[in-house]
Amino acid sequence: MTSTSPRKIIIDTDPGQDDAIAILLALASPEELDLLGITCVAGNVPLARTQTNARIICEVAGRPEVKVFAGRDAPLSRPLVTAEAVHGKTGLDGPDLFDPKMPLQTQAGVDFIIDSLRQEPAGTVTLCPLGPLTNIAAAFEAAPDIIGRVQEIVLMGGAYFEVGNITPAAEFNIYVDPEAADIVMKSGVKVTMMPLDVTHKALITRPRIDALLALNSRVGQFAAEMLDFFERFDMEKYGSEGGPLHDPCVIAYLIQPDLFSGRQINVEIETQSDLTLGMTVADWWRVTDRPPNALFIGDVDAEGFFSLITQRLARL
Ligand code: BDR
Ligand code: CA
Repeated sequence: MTSTSPRKIIIDTDPGQDDAIAILLALASPEELDLLGITCVAGNVPLARTQTNARIICEVAGRPEVKVFAGRDAPLSRPLVTAEAVHGKTGLDGPDLFDPKMPLQTQAGVDFIIDSLRQEPAGTVTLCPLGPLTNIAAAFEAAPDIIGRVQEIVLMGGAYFEVGNITPAAEFNIYVDPEAADIVMKSGVKVTMMPLDVTHKALITRPRIDALLALNSRVGQFAAEMLDFFERFDMEKYGSEGGPLHDPCVIAYLIQPDLFSGRQINVEIETQSDLTLGMTVADWWRVTDRPPNALFIGDVDAEGFFSLITQRLARL
């Protein structure tokens, strides 16, 4: 999407190596994206780590002026489930990490989301959740007047054909806070979802990591070391030639939507069943008369996606 005025976005995130690549991609794309701030949430690792990790990434990108906020430290009504097995103890295992010097903003992340949506003209702020939807749902509950002001939510979460990764039935981001996901999916806001169905087609192969290393830059090296660590768990789990690169699909879609295709369908969240908690019941085949509430992405031009990432990260 090339336009004269970049699209205003808030990235809501739980970094996470794949979240980190998404943030780097956004920071490298000022023509298309105006990053108002990064709100952190508990997810892959606890909040203390996700907010630290977000600041580390901004510093690696040479962008210490980016506003980073701490949001909610636990799901709306459940204990936190984390994913250290995938992301390592820090959430960002792989490269050598350091203590970031840039400040954490004092305002609460949820308040920043609310204030931004009230201050900016209605319909001009896009929310980009890359983790559990706790902060977004909490903002909608605390300030229902902002719901109609959101331009779009483009999120990573859910699955239909790929079903689940944290349980046999559920994808991690939705599973961790299904009540939050339910609030978002019922909000009436325009939603675009990047489920596992598409992210499992965006595999971090060796040549794709090597292309980042070949940038010969701090960012390229950092990204390659993160992805090298990150994909090990999934390669072993799925026996695939690379692990899926989930969260950057959200940012790539905003920059170059023609890389992706999907269907406008109804998606409901399972919040009751212990067995299928957090399942995204996606009416891909349109077998119900439930009204569509999301663009559910199913396919990506993986080569185009990885070249976009490599070309953009080369700018940092
Ligand atoms: C999602 O869960 C996290 O582990 C990743 O960062 C991604 O957002 C994939 O299920
Ligand atoms: Ca994430």
